[in-house]
Amino acid sequence: MKFFIDTANLDEIKEVYEYGFISGVTTNPSLVAKEKDVTFEQRLKEISEIVTGSVSAEVIATDTEGMLREGRELAAIAPNITIKVPMTKDGLRAVATFAKEGIKTNVTLIFSAGQALLAARAGATYVSPFLGRLDDIGHNGLDLISDIASIFAVHQIETEIIAASIRHPMHVIEAAVRGAHIATCPYKVIHQLFTHPLTDQGIKKFLADWNKR
Ligand code: E4P
Repeated sequence: MKFFIDTANLDEIKEVYEYGFISGVTTNPSLVAKEKDVTFEQRLKEISEIVTGSVSAEVIATDTEGMLREGRELAAIAPNITIKVPMTKDGLRAVATFAKEGIKTNVTLIFSAGQALLAARAGATYVSPFLGRLDDIGHNGLDLISDIASIFAVHQIETEIIAASIRHPMHVIEAAVRGAHIATCPYKVIHQLFTHPLTDQGIKKFLADWNKR
């Protein structure tokens, strides 16, 4: 499983990219809205200069024509921009056109295996099931990952599954076990994944022993 970071914050991206395990970025309108004094286009350009892998940029339009217009403009910013489109009828019409034009897409706000299958068949490069938001309403987000992964494997579908709306490290581990291709993690969860008390204790003890020489 690969790691993306789910943020539009440049400092966070710069820092985690240096660790070597991040291969892409996802943004959404709520994350972009937190970034002040910079346009969406400018921020995408800045991110794409750092990150060579997929950078998801979401359209705001809700109609197919609007999505196509916005998506083509965003895709022109850098070759690694992936157009994030909501899981709607208009969205899938746009995905089908983008696929013909060679523009990569990430279908977002996926909450059922049926939605994932439709998006994949429409030509989506990625689908993003939202684990945390399903858990929030008493459903099991991870079971959705298992279902989508099984369907895609049985039917040899190449669309990649991005486990999204990740809230804690166990979401990441379980998503990997269940066959997600990518986990897009908030900055905080990436840091939570790093740490283990036994690692810290181990380093302390090695240094203490070394200094006794
Ligand atoms: C994914 O691409 C979304 O940006 C994100 O994971 C949504 O997460 P949230 O439910 O924490 O807002």
